[in-house]
Amino acid sequence: MVFEQQKQLDLLNTFKVSARAQYFYQFSSVEQLMGELDKIRSFDNRLVLGGGSNILFVGDYLGLVLYPQLFGIDIIEETDKHVCVSVGASENWHEFVVTMTEQGFYGLENLALIPGTVGASPVQNIGAYGVEVKDVLRLVECVDLNSGELLTFSNHECEFDYRDSRFKKAGQGRYIVTRVEFNLTKTPQTNTSYQPLSSIFGDSAHVSPLKVLKKVCEIRQAKLPEPKVLPNAGSFFKNPVVTKQKYEQLKESFPKLIAYPVGGGFKLAAGWLIDNAGLKGMQKGRVGIHKHQALVLVNLGESDGRLIWQLAKEVQSKVASMYGVDLEPEVRIEGKSIEPTVQGV
Ligand code: EPU
Repeated sequence: MVFEQQKQLDLLNTFKVSARAQYFYQFSSVEQLMGELDKIRSFDNRLVLGGGSNILFVGDYLGLVLYPQLFGIDIIEETDKHVCVSVGASENWHEFVVTMTEQGFYGLENLALIPGTVGASPVQNIGAYGVEVKDVLRLVECVDLNSGELLTFSNHECEFDYRDSRFKKAGQGRYIVTRVEFNLTKTPQTNTSYQPLSSIFGDSAHVSPLKVLKKVCEIRQAKLPEPKVLPNAGSFFKNPVVTKQKYEQLKESFPKLIAYPVGGGFKLAAGWLIDNAGLKGMQKGRVGIHKHQALVLVNLGESDGRLIWQLAKEVQSKVASMYGVDLEPEVRIEGKSIEPTVQGV
């Protein structure tokens, strides 16, 4: 049997909660993966684990956890103005961003310090400071476990949306991303339109990408807890989108509400909703809400992921009763979920 059994996942999730995988398969090449396809496909429950930075285990995973170890960064096309780079799915996202920017290949600088792997970046279309991965991605190569084929999807075929893509919609365990290609530019064209950057740099497109990268790192380090120091999974919830009518009604009751127009509606700053409900910095047992960014739940030493999920549900119900808005988790909830029996939480 090439699959490990009862594999401890504690160090493979940035919430650092305790969980085990019933079966676990680590592979380091596409050929190796293809060689085990029949066995892999015999599992009904499959989960692809990258950097474990967007997942909350609320129990052991009953099924097969796939753990790719696919590395390599190669320039596959280059002109005077552009490069196309092919990157193995398991490369660390932030290190990739820094390496490219330092080499003079631009477009990724606003996405610095996002935890996780390159292969996870298209799954939830990671984004920050006015840029999303869909803005620089050329194609995604993946194995479709339903058909057993190695496929490529163009940017358009990835069906990107806010923190969403075809890979997320298909459900975990259908596609295993193996490689991603990015179109980067050699001519600096920075995007400083997002408020925290425009207030420093103005809307100038002439700021050096390296300066933008450094500033993004500073802003993130000031607001967002470093998972290695204070375990977390970034924004726990998505920013909810509501109708114009709902937004106007809320704005009347809460004049300081922060929201951005999107499509025909408005995207509300979920961090503001939670903060304004008085929950920022709140602590319950060994779990809490970060003191500088209310959208981030933090683990203060708890090993039971169910208690983090329980706090998340309390946040959801408070926000629903105060504003009539449903918060949807951005983080994936996985593992067998049984209500905790721990007293006093
Ligand atoms: N705000 C508060 N109180 C808070 C948190 C936020 O009032 O506790 C206000 C802020 O002052 C700001 C607004 O809400 O006016 C938005 O906050 P912020 O700029 O921090 O961004 P966000 O909407 O909370 C999103 C992404 C982050 C990304 C930032 C920067 C989502 C779910 N989150 O957060 O992504 O880094 O924008 O672009 O879209 C992640 O996905 O894990 C993540 C960290």
